[in-house]
Amino acid sequence: MNQVTYKRCGDSGILLPSISLGFWHNFGHVDDFQEARRIMRRAFDRGITHFDLANNYGPPAGSAEENVGRILAEDFACHRDELIITTKAGHDMWQGPYGEWGSRKHLLASLDQSLRRLRLPYVDIFYSHRPDPHTRLEETMSALATAVNSGKALYVGLSKYPLKKLKKAVRILKQMGIRCLIYQPPYSILNRWPETQGILDYLLEENIGCVVFSPLAQGMLTPKYIDNIPADSRAGRPGGFLTGADIIANQEKIRALGDLAAAQGMSINHMAINWTLRHPAVTSAIIGARTVAQLDDSLDALQAPELTDAMLAAIDGIAPPSATKNPEG
Ligand SMILES: NC(=O)c1ccc[n+]([C@@H]2O[C@H](COP(=O)([O-])OP(=O)(O)OC[C@H]3O[C@@H](n4cnc5c(N)ncnc54)[C@H](OP(=O)(O)O)[C@@H]3O)[C@@H](O)[C@H]2O)c1
Repeated sequence: MNQVTYKRCGDSGILLPSISLGFWHNFGHVDDFQEARRIMRRAFDRGITHFDLANNYGPPAGSAEENVGRILAEDFACHRDELIITTKAGHDMWQGPYGEWGSRKHLLASLDQSLRRLRLPYVDIFYSHRPDPHTRLEETMSALATAVNSGKALYVGLSKYPLKKLKKAVRILKQMGIRCLIYQPPYSILNRWPETQGILDYLLEENIGCVVFSPLAQGMLTPKYIDNIPADSRAGRPGGFLTGADIIANQEKIRALGDLAAAQGMSINHMAINWTLRHPAVTSAIIGARTVAQLDDSLDALQAPELTDAMLAAIDGIAPPSATKNPEG
């Protein structure tokens, strides 16, 4: 069974697995707890040492942290020091004026709540989950600095910040004596936003690590949507973040990418994951998995043949690097 490889996160002391596991979906109280446990155990057995969470993952919000906290306590107690556990604050989490965005009040209260749900004294990385258009960056960054200085987080990260704000936030953190360890953007063949905005180049220049999320474009870059929308898929379930309209809008590209991969004897999902990892700025790709079989399939991408220059050019032809909009831009 193949194992992941590890790559240095920028110029920090931290190595991250080439593929990380995220808990946005499939780990809430609405999901199958025993399958979630099997996925987490299997991921660790195959070398995934980086688990990505946020305060609001579920549903209901917070329940992914509760489930992961239980699994950590029951199955991983003696492995804590082998794991990088992250959480984030900034998206809508609780009622009233302090339940979201980038105030010190929200970030630090949310971190305390996350630690209680996760049953941990500290997380490895605490993120500002999204930029706040109304709060001074100094305030949000000071909350991240406090998280580190209080010992509740070892490192800090930023997610979805557009380039200008990212540069300013990194500078402010530096002035506070804190290094931004990592940046987390969406990135896939169908969403090249961080590449086209110059963010990936900036991260390379600054030696900041980069973990990209949704490398499978939430499952669109798997064979499942080529002909229809299966009822048990993310797009097939009601109320999700991926809709039938998204599938229809992308289906032509998905089919062409599927044909391209098949012509090389590769699956579209393996091609998609390895495409994100080809970029030198990318430390790790955070995948999601609803079943152990999906997890295994994604990890098997690491055994797939390397993408040739001809394939990369063909991918550019099918899905040109247009400036896909960052949801928080
Ligand atoms: N910072 C942020 O704002 C942010 C935002 C989004 C995500 N994230 C992080 O990134 C993580 C990954 O996001 P994601 O779940 O969208 O990643 P993804 O890997 O692009 O999509 C995962 C989904 O694709 C489907 N899938 C995976 N493997 C498959 C296979 N072999 N065959 C068929 N379908 C397959 C599954 O959905 P179904 O089977 O249910 O269709 C699975 O849940 C999240 O958990 C979170 O940690 C961060």
